[in-house]
Amino acid sequence: MPSNTSAPAGGSSAGGSAAPRKVLQGQKALVTGANSGIGRGVALALGAAGADVVVNYIQGDEAANEVAAGIEAAGSRALTHRADVSNESQVEQMFARAVGELGTIDILVANAGLQRDSPINAMTLEQWNTVIGVNLTGQFLCARAAVREFLRRGVVRSVSLAAGKIICMSSVHQMIPWAGHANYAASKGGIMMMMESLAQELAPRHIRVNGIAPGAIRTPINRRAWETPEAYASLMTLIPYGRIGEPNDIARAAVWLASDESDYVVGATLFVDGGMTLFPGFATGG
Ligand code: BGC
Repeated sequence: MPSNTSAPAGGSSAGGSAAPRKVLQGQKALVTGANSGIGRGVALALGAAGADVVVNYIQGDEAANEVAAGIEAAGSRALTHRADVSNESQVEQMFARAVGELGTIDILVANAGLQRDSPINAMTLEQWNTVIGVNLTGQFLCARAAVREFLRRGVVRSVSLAAGKIICMSSVHQMIPWAGHANYAASKGGIMMMMESLAQELAPRHIRVNGIAPGAIRTPINRRAWETPEAYASLMTLIPYGRIGEPNDIARAAVWLASDESDYVVGATLFVDGGMTLFPGFATGG
């Protein structure tokens, strides 16, 4: 990637050569689950790239405020908004506020996700429903609200070549089965097919829908898989590139997918996993 990060976007070069170009200048983004882990990294990176950002979260006001402060320090606007993405009315209210205060939404990063791990014989319906509700239904509710706004506004070429961009945060487990995590893997497989179907449905309306499939990223969700030297060494047997991913590895991919630099990328899943998907018989305790 480093060799072409300064390449101008097709048809939309802002010109100028001194200061680094902010590829998302003038755009409004909403990131779910943005006060920790990957969502936090993505929200900060979108802000640094010039977007105003709605920092959605469900718990942890202080962490959300800290992310907002980081975005503001980079010169962009930030709003924190507490909402459960699996709750229809809370999602509707969040988008209404975002559009009311920022004018519109150009970018949705549907990132909020959780794990409730269990062998299938012990998995409760609540564990199943919680994971499907947040990871999959949450992405549906947010995507629907975002699409309604994108369609209302249409393309504004001075802002972006597309009427809107949706990035669905998936996982390598959209394709790697994961014993002991059937609810999580089912949610991610569902995200993949939802993302591709939306991409096909919405491309004629100039809305781009894509996915990112992170591998093992150093975040609280999989702390057990990296926090001890033994766990880390065992994780490394699954990652050809020889290191764990950092939130910023995902954030850089999200900025690119949200920007006009990826304008012809539609319905793609970008695997950002250090090569983890190259291994077949996979399993981690994360
Ligand atoms: C999971 C992590 C896991 C990683 C690789 C992610 O989607 O949330 O817990 O370490 O996939 O298995």
